[in-house]
Amino acid sequence: EEVADISARLLGWYDRHAREMPWRVGPADRRAGVRPDPYRVWLSEIMLQQTTVAAVRSYFRRFTERWPDVGALAAAEDAEVMAEWAGLGYYARARNLLRGARAVVADHGGRFPETRDGLLTLPGVGPYTAAAVAAIAFDEPATVVDGNVERVVARLFRVETPLPAAKPALTRLAAAITPQERPGDHAQAMMDLGATICTPRKPVCSLCPLGPDCAARRDGLEVELPRKAPK
Ligand code: ADE
Repeated sequence: EEVADISARLLGWYDRHAREMPWRVGPADRRAGVRPDPYRVWLSEIMLQQTTVAAVRSYFRRFTERWPDVGALAAAEDAEVMAEWAGLGYYARARNLLRGARAVVADHGGRFPETRDGLLTLPGVGPYTAAAVAAIAFDEPATVVDGNVERVVARLFRVETPLPAAKPALTRLAAAITPQERPGDHAQAMMDLGATICTPRKPVCSLCPLGPDCAARRDGLEVELPRKAPK
């Protein structure tokens, strides 16, 4: 019950406050049942791995204008892709991007695998990216855990164990609130909540849709959590 209430409140908030991003489907299209393009979701998630949303936007636009689908990207010259990636950093990602695109074309007939396990077989796709693409593009109830999600969950359930030791517990709790319906929107709502409301130092609990559910807020611990083990 509680768990269903949490995702229902979160999805209601997302319907009103989702950040617009060039790889997302807007609210009107979403209501009309339009699905996100797996190629665009995969590309965005690889770009977002070590880079902020703000920095990724313009690169994403240039990549998708130049290579609008996975077949086009697979056929690109390595040097062209590396040049277009210049400035994003972590260049291994660009090489993995090309290997991934070529694997989709060579081994999967140009269509992305539609499950987390299938996506994991692609070069450059690890557990995080596989879960994100499975949930966002294919509505598989996979749990997506990044730093934002860890913070939201640690506060919601008042997890006092420091990071990184808390990771397995946080992943289990994140899975427990992942709904069967709209898991992709749920995942992106968790990320948006962590980026805009449940921020590290000055969380805006007064605007949080999970305020009534949040154990850290109830106990005045929101700024303390998640704890971090000393390095
Ligand atoms: N960070 C990584 N993937 C994201 C997404 N789909 N939406 C917002 N932030 C993200």
